[in-house]
Amino acid sequence: MANYLVTSGMTDIVDILVTEHAQADDLLSVFETAAVEGRKAAFAPVRIALRGHAAAEEAVVYPIFRREADTELTTAMDTADEQHDDLEAALVAIETGGADAATTEEVTALRTAFDEHRAHEENVVFALVRKNHKLTRNIRSELARLYNEARASEMIG
Ligand SMILES: [Fe+2]
Ligand SMILES: [Fe+2]
Repeated sequence: MANYLVTSGMTDIVDILVTEHAQADDLLSVFETAAVEGRKAAFAPVRIALRGHAAAEEAVVYPIFRREADTELTTAMDTADEQHDDLEAALVAIETGGADAATTEEVTALRTAFDEHRAHEENVVFALVRKNHKLTRNIRSELARLYNEARASEMIG
């Protein structure tokens, strides 16, 4: 809910996704530094934030980026999809053993998967999107609206 409130006034999908990355980074840092007894509680918002973010990207954003993509952006989107799989695998690994029993390797794997997702999108995907003439300001604004709708319905549903 907090996330949606922060991004609901934003009218560029790239701004929204960058903001969510920063929020997820903060949540992940809290989890990484939590004492063992606080790990479960600290993991819950990480899981919700990362899954909701990736699901809404895949449902709303990636198809439109791909529709208008040149070869370079298509390749970048392939990498982004693979990174979502890595992120999901890292989340599942922690859930399987329980967040309070997560090993250093499992926590590091989640951090690495998240950092790679964030760096690739912000440095490669969004850079290509910003200079893609077909992904106009209007389309990015419409994506912002649809993305926030998707995030709001996830939080209700
Ligand atoms: Fe993202
Ligand atoms: Fe992504």
